[in-house]
Amino acid sequence: MKALITAGGHGTRLRPITHTQNKHLIPIANKLMLAYALEYAHDAGIDEVGIIINEGDTSIAEAFGNGDSFELKIKYIEQSAPLGLGHVVKIAESFIQSDPFVFYLGDNILVGGINKFIEDFKANSSNCHLVLSKVPDPNRFGVADVKDGKIIGIEEKPDHPKSKLAVTGIYVYDSHIFEAVNNIKPSDRGELEISDAHQYLLEKGYSVSYSEITGWWKDTGKPSDLLEANRLVLDNIKDEREGTIDEQSTVSGRVVLGKGSHVINSNIRGPVIIGENVTVDGAYVGPYSAIGDGCKIVNSEIEYSILMHQCRISNISRRIEASLLGSDVELLRSQSKPITHRFILGDQSRVEID
Ligand code: G1P
Repeated sequence: MKALITAGGHGTRLRPITHTQNKHLIPIANKLMLAYALEYAHDAGIDEVGIIINEGDTSIAEAFGNGDSFELKIKYIEQSAPLGLGHVVKIAESFIQSDPFVFYLGDNILVGGINKFIEDFKANSSNCHLVLSKVPDPNRFGVADVKDGKIIGIEEKPDHPKSKLAVTGIYVYDSHIFEAVNNIKPSDRGELEISDAHQYLLEKGYSVSYSEITGWWKDTGKPSDLLEANRLVLDNIKDEREGTIDEQSTVSGRVVLGKGSHVINSNIRGPVIIGENVTVDGAYVGPYSAIGDGCKIVNSEIEYSILMHQCRISNISRRIEASLLGSDVELLRSQSKPITHRFILGDQSRVEID
């Protein structure tokens, strides 16, 4: 069994963060998003992974190298243009060859790994195993029509979904999927849709089985999805405090506090993860916050937010919440008169103030 993991696309709904970095390198609970997929692949006993990247993007290989640190062998495969997930599978054929494989969209975050889905694929001896999840807004996804425990149809982003069962971004295939992606035609938006490949398999009489995710799953297209994914992961962290906490501070709940970090006269209420060499001074860090390495939070309150590394927040009077800060972001209270709002914001930044 091999794995094929996507790490391309443009992450347009996550701008401005994605102006400067690949969305798959955004940290969720201080771990790069794509690392979750790689760990799940390794936990499932997979040792060879192909990662699909945008043409010319070196950032993913810089982050994960040849895969040694995950005990994986990684091959990077460039996609020349965003021609759809069916196209992704198509260009990976020479890497996958005749092996069965897991196709994993790198921006999907789920609890509990992928072992169960691979087992279900094997137990059903199917050609294609899909992982479904009930969602309130199925028209944003591939949607499965299920009758008497069998998938009878798949539609991509239908206006009138036949069920609430979204097809998540975790698929297990045997090599018949190549027949499918080599026979389907581009959709109206010019892409080879993976849902059309699934529909092809159904129509040709290949067996398409499914498991339903009962736990948590999210595809992280928007900032609110990232915050929710962060919450999900933090809900499962274990207390681990390596930094120092002074006597004036209160730390409750599960908190990860990295090496070289200092909590001074502050209140931390878990679940929270704080990276290395972080200073929290005279501050409140509330549930579901992930604070990256080297951040400094002084006389300010923050909750349900992601701060990438080296952010500096000081003397902000209102609590900051549901926020996503890229690396090296600075939020300060005006030091000199006139006291005004002063912004230096990159393209497509978003600020909400009272
Ligand atoms: C893709 C697939 C869709 C699937 C979704 C899961 O959509 O085309 O069938 O339900 O991933 O994340 P996209 O995220 O590219 O809009």
